[in-house]
Amino acid sequence: DAGSTNKSFVGAIDNGTTSSRFLIFDTAGNPVASHQIEFKQIHPYSGWHEHDPNELIATVSECIDKACEEFEGKGHSLSDIKAIGITNQRETTCVWDTRTGEPLHNCIVWTDTRTHRIVHELHQREGADELHDLCGLPLSTYPSSTKLLWLLKHAENVKKVYEEGFLGFGTVDTWLVYKLNGGPEANVHVTDPTNASRTMWMNIHTLKYDDKLISFFGLDVKTPKLHLPKIVPSSDPEAYGKLATTKLKGTKITGCLGDQSAALVGQCGFTPGRAKNTYGTGCFLLYNVGEKPVISKHGLLATVAYDFSSQGIKPVYALEGSIAVAGSSVKFLMNNLGFFRDSHKVSELARTVSDNGGCVFVTGFSGLFAPYWFDDVQGTIWGLTAYTERGHIARATLEATCFQTKAILDAMEKDAGVKLAELAVDGGMSNSDLCMQIQSDVAQIPVDRPRMRETTALGAAIAAGFAVKVWASFDELREINKEDRFVFKPKITQKASDKMYKKWNKAVQMSKGWTT
Ligand code: G3P
Repeated sequence: DAGSTNKSFVGAIDNGTTSSRFLIFDTAGNPVASHQIEFKQIHPYSGWHEHDPNELIATVSECIDKACEEFEGKGHSLSDIKAIGITNQRETTCVWDTRTGEPLHNCIVWTDTRTHRIVHELHQREGADELHDLCGLPLSTYPSSTKLLWLLKHAENVKKVYEEGFLGFGTVDTWLVYKLNGGPEANVHVTDPTNASRTMWMNIHTLKYDDKLISFFGLDVKTPKLHLPKIVPSSDPEAYGKLATTKLKGTKITGCLGDQSAALVGQCGFTPGRAKNTYGTGCFLLYNVGEKPVISKHGLLATVAYDFSSQGIKPVYALEGSIAVAGSSVKFLMNNLGFFRDSHKVSELARTVSDNGGCVFVTGFSGLFAPYWFDDVQGTIWGLTAYTERGHIARATLEATCFQTKAILDAMEKDAGVKLAELAVDGGMSNSDLCMQIQSDVAQIPVDRPRMRETTALGAAIAAGFAVKVWASFDELREINKEDRFVFKPKITQKASDKMYKKWNKAVQMSKGWTT
């Protein structure tokens, strides 16, 4: 390419819960071009949540082309984009016919709770008690395994293709890689350990599929009836193939990380004891525990932080606290209750009052995840009186994620034996100064927010860039995103914080048992 320079750039596909994006980073970790498209959120019944798998591909492809146009418009050359990384919403379950590459059902999204009956049945099955130690996850509506069981039970076409021996399964990373490579012809059917660790089929200690786990769920992967993706390292020069279409046709995909792992990498959380909290649709706290998984005794998950083994680095694990509802609660105030027209306005509304006026909002739209794992909770606002204004509810909404984060930090302290000194944050809600101040007040620790908050996409770019030697070591990355960080420090006393938190705990307990 005549326009090529000796500069290097790396692209990142980020398919989150509500939108697809494509960003192009320079080697200093700055985004130089990007495009984002929101896609449809399908809620056929209460508790159900789906995405159209074709729309995920179409929006990703369009984002790539639009960001490339912007990139070229700034005078850069596409041939300087050395590789592409993928990061994605995790657990969301995609199924297709391996003969045609056509989807057989809408993707069932990670937040979806339609499987709660299946989960109750599975709890009675022999071996249920051993699952957690093997895969690091509690049995719940959250992982892919229970979603696939629902599809095999209730979707006739899925069942039929399974019996015929051609059912393809993937989390969103797998689906994107498969389709972006061109589908059945290229047949690149892979995943990375950070995503595979969210299915319940991967042994967290060996990073391989585990016969015991697979047979617990009654799946046939030997005949095979079900085709699972091959687990390959998160950073790999060959395993993920290359783009078959778009303006970047022929560019290799060399990195893949579930979005929460990607955010930890993007925050350069490479050493044990480093943690980050990402306030996206949900909110996820990941704490680097080093080269051995820690199986939580206090309601947290053991997950893979990243596997850069193809670069000679041992896979690294994290303890995770997963909150199902964060930014989605702000969207709920906007879309369902009409409180404002732009989610940024939530802080403005919350600032119209000086406290929550006695309101506590347990945002249990998908039950409550970590550290509680209560699937019989639904969203509940406690403490409404004639005095309550919309501002109080807006404040209680922001506080809910902060309280749940505090519960997770307490659990993490018990599991890891150390108290976190500081919390690195990113994601949409971290843009709110008020929310981050509340977080610091509630958790009584400093909250450290970077200026460049595209850490999830940056993490995917780092995984991809490592594989093609755009960056050769972690040392080259240490200065990335270090400037202009802002630290929120607690402004209320421990006593005042404890008082607020006590009310939250009471509200959580009183919300239990609503659904049976
Ligand atoms: O586990 C679900 C998670 O990966 C979704 O992330 O950023 O879309 O809330 P996010």
